[in-house]
Amino acid sequence: MVRTLPVSTAAFSDGALSVAPMMDYTNRFLRYLLRRVTRRTTLYTEMVTANTLVHCDPGELPRFLEHDGDNEHPVVLQIGGSDPAMLRRASALGASWGYDAINLNCGCPSDRVAGSGCFGAALMREPSLVGDCCAAMSEGAPGVPISVKCRIGVVGSAAEAIGADEAGAAFARARESPRGVSHFAVHARQAVLGGLSPAQNRQVPPLHYGVVERLAAALPHLSFSLNGGDLDAARAILLAGADSPSDGRLSGVMVGRAVVSRPWRRRLLEEYAAWGDAIEATTPQRIRRLVLAPALNLFAGSEPRGKKFRAALDTRAKDDSLGFSSLLLGVRRWGCVPVHIPGVFLFLSVTM
Ligand SMILES: Cc1cc2nc3c(=O)[nH]c(=O)nc-3n(C[C@H](O)[C@H](O)[C@H](O)COP(=O)(O)O)c2cc1C
Repeated sequence: MVRTLPVSTAAFSDGALSVAPMMDYTNRFLRYLLRRVTRRTTLYTEMVTANTLVHCDPGELPRFLEHDGDNEHPVVLQIGGSDPAMLRRASALGASWGYDAINLNCGCPSDRVAGSGCFGAALMREPSLVGDCCAAMSEGAPGVPISVKCRIGVVGSAAEAIGADEAGAAFARARESPRGVSHFAVHARQAVLGGLSPAQNRQVPPLHYGVVERLAAALPHLSFSLNGGDLDAARAILLAGADSPSDGRLSGVMVGRAVVSRPWRRRLLEEYAAWGDAIEATTPQRIRRLVLAPALNLFAGSEPRGKKFRAALDTRAKDDSLGFSSLLLGVRRWGCVPVHIPGVFLFLSVTM
């Protein structure tokens, strides 16, 4: 039997379930689709750098900051950067676009970001700079909660990472809470800054849920979401926490890849198709590929009939004479693709 989730008492938290920031995925199109599935789950944007927001042509801001208004909340803007002044200005923009919270990326291990100044997971080596960044973000967006997404630690090589269980705990313990931050989303792996691609960095370093659990217990004035890997394991930890006498509990689970690759029901596609028609009609640029991508990704790549469905949609997408809903719903193969509700949303519906 599923019990009630333990709820953290911290000022801000992502709630019991959040969808992780994912570049090229959690844009406004996927988020719109996800909102059809769940009303309460906190949705994160893709990461956008502070430099991009501050220096882009103001006419380009909607590309980075637009969301579906009142229908999309709660939605969190994730920003990347390490210059407090730039982060202050970027956060002010985020606040003016109505985001519910603003998150600093301290978990991305990509060489492209880790090498360009101190950025992403590399920031975990600079806790006092993280504090300055968060304070600046708070100043730029007064009243908007600032949160941090990080790993359990950061190391220079994969060999060092394997088995380095507790090392990451030092990050949050060392600096307590950066000024203005009450919530951490923690990917329960170390980030390896040398020799692993970003994809390997989400697979090779082992998961250590216990580290995040112990962080939450050690820092009960903060709230922590657990991220990474098998949701069932994460869920078991949350449920186990219900019996814990400690005030410090995990406040929720953040899910990434699982929401991209699992299919949903036809009703959702129909609703999404109608929205796709409307948005294509009101957007001057050709955005069909962007609108189509979340629907394509509903079907797992390993499912053979799913592959045929994707291929059929892909071919039809080139035909400009087809409206978006005719394109999406008119593929005959659709009917034979098996659909399942992902366990993560079932989990939500029985626990909330
Ligand atoms: C394609 C892709 C893009 C990602 N982009 C971001 C990002 O922009 N910012 C971020 O903090 N994490 C990013 N991540 C990491 C996820 O937020 C998450 O921490 C990671 O995938 C582990 O969670 P999961 O096992 O539930 O997928 C990305 C992950 C993937 C797969």
